[in-house]
Amino acid sequence: MKAVRYHAYGDSDVLRVEEAERPTAAPGHVVLKVAGAAFNPVDAMIRAGGFHQFAPVEFPHTPGMDASGTVAETGEGVTGWSVGDAVVASLAINAPGAAAEYIAVPADALAAAPRTVPLADASALPGVGLTAWQGLYEHAKLRSGQRLLVNGAGGGVGRIAVQLAKRAGAEVTATASARSLDRVKAAGADRIVDYTAGPVAEALAGQRFDAVFHLVRTAPEEVARMAELVAEGGVLVSATVPAPEGAGRGVRTEMMSMRGDAGQLAELVALVDAGELTVDVAERLPLAEAKAVHDRFAAGTLAGKTVLVP
Ligand SMILES: NC(=O)c1ccc[n+]([C@@H]2O[C@H](COP(=O)([O-])OP(=O)(O)OC[C@H]3O[C@@H](n4cnc5c(N)ncnc54)[C@H](OP(=O)(O)O)[C@@H]3O)[C@@H](O)[C@H]2O)c1
Repeated sequence: MKAVRYHAYGDSDVLRVEEAERPTAAPGHVVLKVAGAAFNPVDAMIRAGGFHQFAPVEFPHTPGMDASGTVAETGEGVTGWSVGDAVVASLAINAPGAAAEYIAVPADALAAAPRTVPLADASALPGVGLTAWQGLYEHAKLRSGQRLLVNGAGGGVGRIAVQLAKRAGAEVTATASARSLDRVKAAGADRIVDYTAGPVAEALAGQRFDAVFHLVRTAPEEVARMAELVAEGGVLVSATVPAPEGAGRGVRTEMMSMRGDAGQLAELVALVDAGELTVDVAERLPLAEAKAVHDRFAAGTLAGKTVLVP
């Protein structure tokens, strides 16, 4: 089978499409015929060796933590899933990834794929959906009527976060640039601040939010400025750079780390099928474009979700 692989950490040049052995289903696992492997920023960070100390990969490694596909084989002891089922999964950070024709996945990581979006596009849901879900509900404990600031709402996580927060009854202010304005508006943001027009903290000076969800890889000082926008007793959840401790005024700061959760993924899928959550995919590209996708991400020119389709 064909798979994107790399044999050492490095820049995007390490990415190749190679002939690889098709995996088999170990006990408790299934083999998926991959329909889509959405790109996430973490794929580039893993490739560059950013996680080698706490989650080293085994080489050759196939990137891609988000998968959609159909079950092609079930291992011993797998119940609840059959050959032909359409599914989605969020894969472990150092597990063999989804940018391949077939992958082996633990059966307990699977959720049924949404019926209302093309199967390849469904791979754009797990990582961003779970990050937004856990950031808002588990870390920020967002409640109806609260004021939320999503800093970095133009990205994949941000657009889902805006939709989930509106659904939860929050009043949402979002930061985005012109290229994402329409998508963030469509997600339901009440107010959008163009972060390219000047410092966000200045544009929002004097305002206070019950929760700030920080999704931009900034200098620590920038996160500290975001913490100043949090109301007394509120919370800043960062998915990128650790928030400063001791922000004062009873402000809680949390650094989050998304974890796979098939139950939450099933709830996200149900929202998609109920028409309450939109998965928007900007482009679908063949595996051979993996290096170009990583290059465009590094250059900041990747706008919207990109899905690799084997
Ligand atoms: N800790 C975790 O568990 C976890 C999980 C998932 C993601 N993350 C991290 O969270 C971040 C967002 O992930 P993602 O998947 O949403 O990334 P993404 O789809 O690549 O989106 C990034 C977005 O950031 C926006 N942006 C860039 N600079 C900005 C600035 N100065 N102010 C406001 N927005 C800015 C851009 O929006 P415009 O298009 O509007 O310009 C861009 O679309 C990444 O750094 C990722 O690594 C962490």
